[in-house]
Amino acid sequence: MTNQTPASELDRKFQAAFAGKRILITGGLGFIGSTLAHRLAGLGAHILLVDSLIPEYGGNQFNIEGLEDTLAVNISDVRDEHSFRHLLLGQDYLFNLAGQTSHLDSMRDPFTDLEINCRAQLSILEACRKHNPSVHIVFASTRQIYGKPDYLPVDEKHLLRPVDVNGVNKMAGEWFHILYHNVYGIPACALRLGNTYGPRMRIRDARQTFLGIWIRLLLEDKPFEVWEGHQLRDFTYVDDAVEAFLLAAMSESATGRIFNLGGDGPISLKALGDLLVETAGSGQYIEKSFPPERKLIDIGDYYANDDAIFETLGWRSRTSLRDGLGRTVTYYREHFEHYL
Ligand SMILES: NC(=O)c1ccc[n+]([C@@H]2O[C@H](COP(=O)([O-])OP(=O)(O)OC[C@H]3O[C@@H](n4cnc5c(N)ncnc54)[C@H](O)[C@@H]3O)[C@@H](O)[C@H]2O)c1
Repeated sequence: MTNQTPASELDRKFQAAFAGKRILITGGLGFIGSTLAHRLAGLGAHILLVDSLIPEYGGNQFNIEGLEDTLAVNISDVRDEHSFRHLLLGQDYLFNLAGQTSHLDSMRDPFTDLEINCRAQLSILEACRKHNPSVHIVFASTRQIYGKPDYLPVDEKHLLRPVDVNGVNKMAGEWFHILYHNVYGIPACALRLGNTYGPRMRIRDARQTFLGIWIRLLLEDKPFEVWEGHQLRDFTYVDDAVEAFLLAAMSESATGRIFNLGGDGPISLKALGDLLVETAGSGQYIEKSFPPERKLIDIGDYYANDDAIFETLGWRSRTSLRDGLGRTVTYYREHFEHYL
């Protein structure tokens, strides 16, 4: 079995793979995309971020504070095929993270979700096929596409049975990537992310993650709500997720593959609430049941089996939930006003 690569060795590998390379990140002003940009900037890559900055999504100019002179930003929409074709030319890597992330919004406005998470993904891949077929692509997929798990932990062989419009469209987006690899040889792969958290996530509301609104309310000295506290989830710290993106992009063995990302083991939402309060040294929560419109699209307990990415790429999450939550709360204490 592969061993997890030590952090210092990983940095040397990343440096060798990405220094001087041309990298396009869609959704690059968002939570995960901007964290990826920070890491790649430190490795000496030439970075271009594409983001539409739609206010309801997680894009935020503050996410790239300090990098303004290091990278280029193009405020455009990946639904615009013509501008995307131009932006793609000459790129070595495409980290494809632009997406509508809210499950509830996908039910209220299914066609926008369809346009971004499904149709635009096909047009991005068509642009790759026609204008840059050797670009290495990593697509940000989601565990949402499994739906309610039949067994735990969920591995990649689990049936795909999405419970909401977002899950159906992300599933199609993911499979367009694999299809374009299988049929046209485009070096693409996909990571199925679980609950990812950390600095730069959206905390204004619960659109991206419920942890965001928990942290906002905690820092405003208001109680946050824990719905069905017995539910199990696992949580991936964003820096760990970023390492998975980099490893997947640079490794031939990842091409054409799909990998789950897990975290620091399963935890109940109530225990997560307790840990957050303990780590922050403040805050309180109230327990409630799910509001009906959310209950209808809830997936119940979920945690990932991520042995496949460990065995193939040597990736495992490194950050304990306690450390990750601590760093996250510290970040928002310092930069709160930029995220409201
Ligand atoms: N955060 C998580 O827990 C999580 C879990 C599973 C999957 N994912 C996937 O990871 C990706 C990144 O998620 P995130 O958490 O960083 O969310 P995010 O909302 O912070 O980032 C997505 C970015 O995409 C941009 N965007 C959306 N539509 C666009 C469009 N049409 N054109 C250009 N830019 C557009 C948004 O402005 C935003 O900056 C998404 O595709 C999401 O589905 C995230």
